[in-house]
Amino acid sequence: MMRQAGRYLPEYRAIREEHAFLEVCKTPDLAVEVSLQPFCRLGVDAVIVFSDILIPAEAMGLRLELGDAGPNLPEPVRTRNDVEKLRLFDPETETAFLPEAIRRLVRELGPNVPVLGFAGAPWTLACYMVEGQAKEGFAAAKSFLLHEPKIFRELLHRIALATITYLKAQIAAGAAAVQLFDTWCGELSLGDYENFALPATQEIVSGIAGAVPVIHYTKASHHLFPAVARSGADVLSVDWRMDLSALRAELGPRIALQGNVDPAVLLGPSEEIRRVTSETVAALGGAGHILNLGHGILPQTTVENAQLFVQTGQRALLQEAKPAASWR
Ligand code: CP3
Repeated sequence: MMRQAGRYLPEYRAIREEHAFLEVCKTPDLAVEVSLQPFCRLGVDAVIVFSDILIPAEAMGLRLELGDAGPNLPEPVRTRNDVEKLRLFDPETETAFLPEAIRRLVRELGPNVPVLGFAGAPWTLACYMVEGQAKEGFAAAKSFLLHEPKIFRELLHRIALATITYLKAQIAAGAAAVQLFDTWCGELSLGDYENFALPATQEIVSGIAGAVPVIHYTKASHHLFPAVARSGADVLSVDWRMDLSALRAELGPRIALQGNVDPAVLLGPSEEIRRVTSETVAALGGAGHILNLGHGILPQTTVENAQLFVQTGQRALLQEAKPAASWR
C-alpha cells in the first residue's frame, strides 16, 4: 500500500499528536516505530521506511515545512541562481536519520521481510521545489520549464545526482529495493515527459546500476506509455486508470507491475473490496505482480478495510501464483 503508515492508523495519529511530522522523519526511533505499525496491524509483506520525498529538498538547501496542509517550501527555486545554489549532500551526515532507520528496520525484521527505500522522481521533486507547494497544474514549474528549458534541465540533473547518492546510502543501509515516485508526471505532455522528466529518471536508474530492483511509480500516466517503460526500472507501479493485463501484453513479461487498486475502493463495502482486489490479482495471474493501491491510502479508510485488502490479496495470490520460472 502506498503510504502504508498514515492518518488512517490510530497508533500513527497517537504519535503525531505528540510529535511533528518532520520530527518523526528525523528521529530513527520514531521513524522505525511508525514504519512497523502497518506491518504489525495489516501483515503486509514488505515495509517502506517512513520518510518523505521532500527530505532531500531540504538537504539540498531549501527551507521545508510539512504541516497539515501538505508540504511548503517558502523559498522556492525560480532562477538560475536558485538552481546553482542547490547543493549535493552527503546522505550519511545530512540525512543520517534515514539510513539509520533502514539499518534498524532490517535488523528488526530479518532477512525475509524486504525493507524499501524511496525518493521522489526528479520532475515530481522539481514541481515542489519550484512551486513551493502542491498546486493543481503546477503552473510555476511548467512556466520555468517553458521559459528556461536549459536551466530547468540543469535543475532536474542536480536532483538526479543528489538522488543517486541518497538512494545508494539507503541501499548500503539494507534497502532491498527502492521506489521512485513520479506522482505529477501525468501533468506533462508526452513530448515534455520524453525531453525533461524521462532522461533525469533514466539517469537515476542507471546510477543505481542494478544494485537492487527499482520500482517506478507514475500517476495518471496512460498517455506516457510506453515511454515510461524506457526508464529502465524493473517494476512499473501504476494507478487504477491502467488496465494491468493490457499493460502486460504491451510490455511483455520482463517488466514486473505494481498496483493498482483505487484507494477509494477501500472506503466501499467488503464485497467490493474483495471483488476488486481478486480481479486485480487475476489480471496478471499472480505473476510478476506486486499488489498495491494505485495511490496513497485515504485517511478515512478503516483499519478493517485495509486488513481486508491485504488478506484478500494474499489469498488470491496464493491461488493464482505460478512458480516464478513459468513467466520468466
Ligand atoms: O508508506 C509510508 O508510510 C511511507 C512514507 C511516505 C510518506 N510520503 C509519508 C507521509 C512516502 C513513500 C511518501 C511519498 C510522498 N510524499 C509522495 C509520493 C507518493 C504520493 O503520495 O504521491 C509525495 C507526492 C509526497 C509529498 C507529500 N507528503 C504530500 C503531498 C503530503 C500531504 C498530503 C497528505 O496526504 O497528507 C505529505 C505528507 C505525508 N507524507 C503524510 C505521510 C504519512 C501525511 C501524514 C501526516 O500529516 O501526518
